[in-house]
Amino acid sequence: LTGEIGSGKTTLCKALLRHLPQTTKTSFVFNSNLPEGQLFEAILGDFGILPKRRNKISFLKHLNSFLLSELSSGNNTALIIDEAQNLRASTLEFIRMLSNFETEKEKLIQIVLSGQPELRNKLDAANLSQLKQRISVHSHISALTMTDVGQYIDHRIFKTSPSKNVIFTPDAVDLIFSFSKGIPRLINIACDKALLCGFVLDTTVIDHGVAQRSIEELCGTAHPAMV
Ligand SMILES: Nc1ncnc2c1ncn2[C@@H]1O[C@H](COP(=O)(O)OP(=O)(O)OP(=O)(O)O)[C@@H](O)[C@H]1O
Ligand SMILES: [Mg+2]
Repeated sequence: LTGEIGSGKTTLCKALLRHLPQTTKTSFVFNSNLPEGQLFEAILGDFGILPKRRNKISFLKHLNSFLLSELSSGNNTALIIDEAQNLRASTLEFIRMLSNFETEKEKLIQIVLSGQPELRNKLDAANLSQLKQRISVHSHISALTMTDVGQYIDHRIFKTSPSKNVIFTPDAVDLIFSFSKGIPRLINIACDKALLCGFVLDTTVIDHGVAQRSIEELCGTAHPAMV
C-alpha cells in the first residue's frame, strides 16, 4: 500500500485492523525505524510470544510454530508494517523470508507493507527483486478529487455537528482543494483553521474570505493558489 504523506495509509491500516474478524491474528508495526532485533520482538510480542533466546533462529522457530498452530485452529495471521519506506534492505529481505512460511498447500502469513511512494522505489532495487515478485496486490492511495473534497468536508461536518448548519461554500472548497491538493491531512488542517476563523468571526458559513484568511494564517503568507 503506497500513498503520499498524509494520504491516509495509517488510517486505512487501522480501519483494516478494526474490521478483521477475531479469527485473524495480527501484528501491527508502526515504528519501522526500530533496529532489526527490536522489530522482530515487537512482531512476536503482538502475537503473544516471548522467546527466551533473542536471536533470528529462535525468532523464526517460534514464529513458525505459532503460525502452524494458528492454521490448525482455523485462524489467519497477518503482519502489517506501516512506514515501510524506512525499512532497511536487510529487514525487507528478512520479511521476504517470512513470506516463505508455508505448508504444501498454503501460505501461513499475509504481509501488508504500507509506506510512502519511496517504498516502491526501494522494492525496485535489484537485490529486492525476490520480495517484489511475491507482491500480489499493489494499491496506491490517490489524492482526493475536487468533488471528493467537497463530499469529504460535508461528511465530516455532518458527523461532528449534524444540526449546527455549518457550511463550506463551493468557492471555499475550491480554495481548500487548491491548498491541499486533495491530501486529507492538509484538508483537515485547513478546515480546522477555517472553523476556528468562523468561530472568531461568529459565522457558521465558511466562505471564500474565511477560507482564504485561514490558509493565509497557515502559510504565514498568501498561498500560491490564491495569488
Ligand atoms: N479516508 C479518510 N477518511 C477520513 N479521514 C481520513 C481519511 N484518510 C485520511 N484521513 C485523515 O487524514 C489524516 C492523515 O491520515 P494518515 O495519518 O492516515 O496519513 P498517512 O498516509 O499515514 O500519512 P504519513 O505518510 O505522514 O504517515 C488523518 O488525520 C486522518 O484522520
Ligand atoms: Mg502514516
